[in-house]
Amino acid sequence: MEVIIQSNEETAARTVAEFIARAVKAKPTLVLGLATGCTMEPVYDELVRKRQEEGLDFSLCRSFNLDEYVGLPPDDPSSYHHFMRRRFFDRVNIDLRNTHLPDGMATDLEAECARYEQLIAASGGIDLQLLGIGLNGHLGFNEPPAAVQSRTRVEILSPVTRAQNAPLFPKSKPVPRRAVTMGVGTILAARRCLLLATGSEKAQVVARAIEGPMTPTITASVLQMHPACTVVLDEAAAGDLGNKERYRRGFPAPTALPAIAKSTAANDGNGRRRSQAKPRKPLLTVKS
Ligand code: GLP
Repeated sequence: MEVIIQSNEETAARTVAEFIARAVKAKPTLVLGLATGCTMEPVYDELVRKRQEEGLDFSLCRSFNLDEYVGLPPDDPSSYHHFMRRRFFDRVNIDLRNTHLPDGMATDLEAECARYEQLIAASGGIDLQLLGIGLNGHLGFNEPPAAVQSRTRVEILSPVTRAQNAPLFPKSKPVPRRAVTMGVGTILAARRCLLLATGSEKAQVVARAIEGPMTPTITASVLQMHPACTVVLDEAAAGDLGNKERYRRGFPAPTALPAIAKSTAANDGNGRRRSQAKPRKPLLTVKS
């Protein structure tokens, strides 16, 4: 796991956006795993700026979002479909037909979960999965304790999560009790994971996820076993880390970022992880 600490929320978000931009340039047909939440808003703003001012091209990219609430139609302002269109899809040149979120309105939710997994597999698997972290350590909506091998499924949201997300709903409307989420296994099958956390309220859970024992009670701690995971933090979210001097400050990182090209796929497109035995050829070389 690579940990990068930035001085503030803005530079942390810019770092993540730059990371994504380099991946898109290196592989224009990139399959992006996308995340929602307030933490991601400045990331999407920066990607939009890169589109508008630098011509960053998303036209061949495909995307899969982590999750969606059960019972919210795509035009509901509190839905993640709506968030993604408002914050990102409608502001860049991604083809909407290539963007995917689970359908929280599906009558057969189990079939919808299977369909979503198949769609990810048919696209060749996720190249780069963007992640936030919940106050209880969840990834997507994988509420602790979360099974490491879980796949896309319906989750019952915890009181902590519903309280955390309540400000994003009108007062008259309760936060849904259930959501469809990619599973932990789905997330771990991505070739790269990129987690962003900002703000002091995340400091405790971030420290447990990065430096604590790997445990199903902090879902994000499973990222410790991902072979290519980068965590970007601001100083506030890094506040409780015990080993801060070990982590990299600033960006670009001096190391080469591991490849996400097809030829070095860690995932065989059917959700199964391939052997990592072959050394990866760096696709993106970042100078310090
Ligand atoms: C929701 C999403 C998560 C996200 C989390 C954090 O629960 N399902 O994917 O990581 O919110 O949100 P925020 O960035 O608003 O703290």
